[in-house]
Amino acid sequence: MKKMTPLKNDLLLRAARGLKTERTPVWLMRQAGRILPEYRAIRNSLSGFKELVETPQLAAEVTIQPVDILDVDAAIIFSDILVIPDAMGLPYEMVEKVGPYFPQTIKAESDLKKLRIADPGDLSYVYEAIAITLRELDGRVPLIGFAGAPFTLFCYMVEGGGSKTFSKARKMIAQNPDLAHRILDMVTVSTIAYLHGQVDAGVHLVQVFDSWAAVLHRSDYAEFSLPYTRRIAEAIHPRVPVTLFAKGANFSIGDLATLPCDTIGLDWTVPVEFARSQAMNKTLQGNLDPTALYAPGKEIVKKTREMLQAFGGHKHIANLGHGVYPDTDPEAVKIFVNTVKEFEYEHA
Ligand code: CP3
Repeated sequence: MKKMTPLKNDLLLRAARGLKTERTPVWLMRQAGRILPEYRAIRNSLSGFKELVETPQLAAEVTIQPVDILDVDAAIIFSDILVIPDAMGLPYEMVEKVGPYFPQTIKAESDLKKLRIADPGDLSYVYEAIAITLRELDGRVPLIGFAGAPFTLFCYMVEGGGSKTFSKARKMIAQNPDLAHRILDMVTVSTIAYLHGQVDAGVHLVQVFDSWAAVLHRSDYAEFSLPYTRRIAEAIHPRVPVTLFAKGANFSIGDLATLPCDTIGLDWTVPVEFARSQAMNKTLQGNLDPTALYAPGKEIVKKTREMLQAFGGHKHIANLGHGVYPDTDPEAVKIFVNTVKEFEYEHA
């Protein structure tokens, strides 16, 4: 492994490990993206999203933009969770104003022949983007790596795109659970190798996004999501801090807290006291409602302060409860970031 540049700001990593910090670290999910005119300029000069993801120099550039412009305490490598199905043999397309689309999906046993365990070589563009980013960041802030949770990737691979219900994916669970498990296993093996590759390339922390876990009943979650996320956490946590985020699946917080991870992400619907009671030993990340950033500046300050005070200034990484919405004013994001940085907690 390469020698790592020492970090000038390691607040994120210390907070993730549950250590005391001078102040609460802050970053935003989807901070690299359409909210920034600087991102749109690069993106519009290309054939599309995928070209940006697959061009390491440009992916590195947009990864660093929010550090320069928004002054956040972490960078997150610019990529997508869908690079894993892509490397497994199901290419994705990103359709303008619609979202991801998979021309081929897995419907039956016979479709398994389309799938392979992702070859780490197929994802070398991500590792190169990480190496360039780290060089250019020069230790200013930590770099976060990420992947989709196997269940969320399974949803896209079966459904072929976004869905409100992911009923095709749930139908496979109902009709052919063995096939579902075989797909989930292949995704898990691919993802573990991919995250090891990201850590080898130098990411400081890894976040796993289970964006669709909330469509599952808790017993199905226990069978089709949690065990696969567990395998990922067990493999990666010995190397770097791990954050698990199962958006909307508030029932899963207690289950996630049993896994070897450091931080649990919360969406904006989760009351902090509830999350603390479910995950006493973990750092929590979140959870301002992304729409709070549409309010006038004074309101953003007020809501951000209330959120911070609720977490109490310990074992907390400030973030939104989901990715920042694309039509958010970057000035509103700056107000959020600065409010976190300047906040002084009231102690009882
Ligand atoms: O800044 C960051 O957070 C890092 C980059 C990042 C992207 N996608 C870039 C992106 C991350 C961490 C993701 C994760 C991701 N991708 C998730 C999990 C997080 C979540 O939102 O729940 C999911 C479900 C996806 C799949 C995906 N990618 C969808 C559904 C879409 C379309 C919706 C949309 O916002 O347009 C994408 C596209 C995407 N991924 C964009 C970005 C910046 C927008 C593409 C563009 O530039 O047009």
